[in-house]
Amino acid sequence: MSQAPQFDTNTIKIEQLYKSYDTPKKGEVHYIIKDVNLTIRGGEFFVLLGPSGCGKSTLLNMIAGFVSKTSGRLKVGSSEVDKPGQDRAVVFQQADSSLFSWLNVRQNVEFGLKMKKVPKAEREKVSDRYISMVGLSGHENKYPRELSGGMKQRVQLARVLANDAAILLMDEPFGALDAMTRKTMQKELSNIWRETNKTVIFVTHDIHEALLLGQRIGVMSKGPSSQITDIYDVPLSYPRDFTSVEFNDVYKKIQSHFDE
Ligand SMILES: Nc1ncnc2c1ncn2[C@@H]1O[C@H](COP(=O)(O)OP(=O)(O)OP(=O)(O)O)[C@@H](O)[C@H]1O
Ligand SMILES: [Mg+2]
Repeated sequence: MSQAPQFDTNTIKIEQLYKSYDTPKKGEVHYIIKDVNLTIRGGEFFVLLGPSGCGKSTLLNMIAGFVSKTSGRLKVGSSEVDKPGQDRAVVFQQADSSLFSWLNVRQNVEFGLKMKKVPKAEREKVSDRYISMVGLSGHENKYPRELSGGMKQRVQLARVLANDAAILLMDEPFGALDAMTRKTMQKELSNIWRETNKTVIFVTHDIHEALLLGQRIGVMSKGPSSQITDIYDVPLSYPRDFTSVEFNDVYKKIQSHFDE
């Protein structure tokens, strides 16, 4: 008996993907990313790791459907990505651009649920859960202008989790947080991912964070014309123990990649 392809609709398949912001009449084309080939299984936690400016956000925003490709193929399930969709939720690197300034914390978190016509009582239950998870209980009635950068980032995170999309695209979501909060968020995200069948693509330039979270880590080369040069299978069980010898062995292996 053949096994049902349970997560097929969330598989992300990228083939010979190129991105350039040049206009053709300029003559020579400079590629930001060049010939990226990658398949991410539905339900997988995949980390994109690479130096600043290499094109991580560009690639993530292409998968999100916000940035158009120059050439190649990019599919989610059987459909070619050409626009954003409800199957993909994005945590942007800059929280400012994604929160609604005229809505308070609770309204921002509940926005997608309201669009989906989820009844008020249910919406409140869900938003309470995620507002509490990101440590913002008591701040429900504040507006984005009254929040710090890290607080705004946490509202964005709570909103994305509340929306419960099948695919989470997360662009350095914990970059603006203090060390303690970051640690809590990493743990919560890892738990949520293990409890659900979500596909997560998580961008970071932090090897430690990549190893705490990812099943596979794709390393991008320095731009321009960045490519995914290596993919590491992380042979560690969850929850990850960063004090273990095994953790440090993989850490050193990836670190040496960047030293070269
Ligand atoms: N709209 C745009 N027009 C022209 N060039 C762009 C545009 N957006 C990004 N770039 C260029 O693409 C390259 C990759 O940028 P990107 O933001 O994807 O990098 P990144 O890996 O996410 O960096 P960081 O880690 O600093 O966030 C950079 O050289 C940047 O200048
Ligand atoms: Mg970026």
